[in-house]
Amino acid sequence: MDEQADGGNSPGEGPGSDPARRADEELLARTRAVPVLAGALPHLDPERVPDAPGPLFARWLAEAIDAGVPEPQVMTLSTAAPDGAPSARVLILRGIDTAGCAYDFASDSRSRKSRDLAANPRAALTWYWPAQGRQIRMAGPVEVLGRDAAARDFRGRGESARAAAFAGPVSAPLESAGQYDAALRAARDLVAAEPERVPATHTLYRLHAAEAEFWQADPARFHVRVRYGRAAAGEGWSRTLLWP
Ligand SMILES: Cc1cc2nc3c(=O)[nH]c(=O)nc-3n(C[C@H](O)[C@H](O)[C@H](O)COP(=O)(O)O)c2cc1C
Repeated sequence: MDEQADGGNSPGEGPGSDPARRADEELLARTRAVPVLAGALPHLDPERVPDAPGPLFARWLAEAIDAGVPEPQVMTLSTAAPDGAPSARVLILRGIDTAGCAYDFASDSRSRKSRDLAANPRAALTWYWPAQGRQIRMAGPVEVLGRDAAARDFRGRGESARAAAFAGPVSAPLESAGQYDAALRAARDLVAAEPERVPATHTLYRLHAAEAEFWQADPARFHVRVRYGRAAAGEGWSRTLLWP
């Protein structure tokens, strides 16, 4: 039977008889049925945004918490390796400096992101708060904060989070789940015996935004997109409205 008569198995030609392709098509159909940017969304008046992005970030984050957005402190960190290869992952926001428009995150210095940042200390952060149709993008140079700041951050964590940090080399290949289980048990004992101990690899980073973009969705698609930019930390911000 020729492919056309069969309904076609090539991309864009319908599900055809290939079960894997049909499953993909069904999944895509279910995906398309999920509403995006629907419901009552707040309005952003582009004429009335602050001169700097820090206060707008603080306002939106507070409003996300108030609105019950799940895990609003979770953000995507994107880095690039020296050869340009990008990678992204989600992290927890660990510090806010509204006046300086700087945002902290913590990780293990052996992780892939940390290796990227050691070679190329620039990154991007992205937040998406669907209940409000809001996306924020920040990008800029990343600074490694000192050992004291890292220790304060680490000691502020719960016991199991601290134990996990002692368990093993983040992002290195793991032989088996059993290997992790044994390492985690040993790490729990260590944390119970030495609650103040901080792993030398625990690192606190600060991203100093050099650019920031706020995207407010509108159900009628009158989205508002405001971009802030500055030449360097401490300098004044310029503001531009972008086509959404
Ligand atoms: C909700 C959530 C929060 C996370 N928070 C952190 C975090 O604060 N720091 C961190 O290093 N990894 C965190 N992770 C794990 C990272 O997403 C990632 O898997 C890990 O850091 C290794 O990334 P890398 O190999 O790209 O460096 C979190 C994962 C999830 C799902």
